[in-house]
Amino acid sequence: MYKIAVCGCGVVGSGVCDALIYQKEKLSRRAAREVGLAYVLDIRDLTGTPYAEYKAESLDSILADPEVEVVVITIGGLDLAADYCFRALKAGRHVVTSNKAVVAAYGPELEKLAFSKDRRFMYEASVGGGIPIIRPLNICLFANDITEIQGILNGTTNYMLTGMYRRHASFDEMLARAQKKGYAEADPSADVDGYDAARKIAILSSIAYGAFVDYRDVPCMGIRNVALVDHELADKAGFTLKLIAGSRFEDGKVYISVEPKLVRKGHLLSDVNSVYNAILTKGNFTGDSLFYGQGAGKEATASAVVGDIVELLGTPRLPSLPEFVDKKAVVAPDDRPTRYYLRFRSFRQLSAGTLIDIFGEDTLCLYSKDERDPWEEINLESTGGVITPAYLPEELPEKIEALAALGAKLKLTLKVLD
Ligand code: HSE
Repeated sequence: MYKIAVCGCGVVGSGVCDALIYQKEKLSRRAAREVGLAYVLDIRDLTGTPYAEYKAESLDSILADPEVEVVVITIGGLDLAADYCFRALKAGRHVVTSNKAVVAAYGPELEKLAFSKDRRFMYEASVGGGIPIIRPLNICLFANDITEIQGILNGTTNYMLTGMYRRHASFDEMLARAQKKGYAEADPSADVDGYDAARKIAILSSIAYGAFVDYRDVPCMGIRNVALVDHELADKAGFTLKLIAGSRFEDGKVYISVEPKLVRKGHLLSDVNSVYNAILTKGNFTGDSLFYGQGAGKEATASAVVGDIVELLGTPRLPSLPEFVDKKAVVAPDDRPTRYYLRFRSFRQLSAGTLIDIFGEDTLCLYSKDERDPWEEINLESTGGVITPAYLPEELPEKIEALAALGAKLKLTLKVLD
């Protein structure tokens, strides 16, 4: 029997076990031999669960069984999960993981170790939940030079942003809902401060551009400062608010960031809501390709893990190492001109004319308190916003100083994705 062991029987791990049990016959037909779940390792007592009969004592006891071909690591966190990946590969087993922290931190080492053992280290589930994106980048889009990736890569924050606006719910309420649904990381900061998305865009960029992007080099801003009024102002101006993880490859450098952006309605990413993720890639042969689906959750993520296992059945060895394994990316801050959204509190009247004098002819003036003509004056103490024409990043500070000199207090600066 081609035995599979699952280490970590939490949200994703239990989903993998369920899928392996449910699809045992289909998997066995694909492999032309019996394939199935053999062991489940978890610190919890599995008594009374459907997984009790598979309960393993330890990773060592799993690795002592020569029929175990694949070890699935669905343990969260970093150190223990990474240790299990290294140990299973050293013991000559394929490793499939959903743990992006491990992939982002140790991807090159684990790829090399797997290759040296004639085994594979696979991680489709680490980015985009159930969306196929690692395999498309590695194989289907191979003919392309990929020049850009723009994504909504964190299900929790997308679920929160969508719910906060649609339900007028608070940040804490939506975070609790995401946690209940099993979308959120154990440490909520990984989601809401953008670190989870930073790891994911680093993984995708490493594969797409053939050079390892260290997730610690990704400039990262989360969604904590986004308020309901930002959704309202954005909506009125024809934009939606999304946490965008993006990168661009130009002149040998990777320009990369995770930050909330105003996305123009009609843009392919503007209508990606709730737990759904989407990844838009730009290649010189295909042009734009859009990958869309559930970015988090038990079943969707389990589906990606099982997809890796199916690939292992057909392609258990790589002919060569991925390019990013031996090359480090040069990461640079984005220096392209872009439009900005600025939200400010005004302590004196600022006419639209004044704002246009500061920011330029094509400035869009936004008001929150009522439905007046947006070109009217802003009242004392009211919140207002502008969407500026496109500026280089270094041009913005002088505009903000001019705004401050008129008594306006800047509350939030976001970029616009047109
Ligand atoms: N916390 C992650 C998210 C889980 O919300 O996207 C999937 O990686």
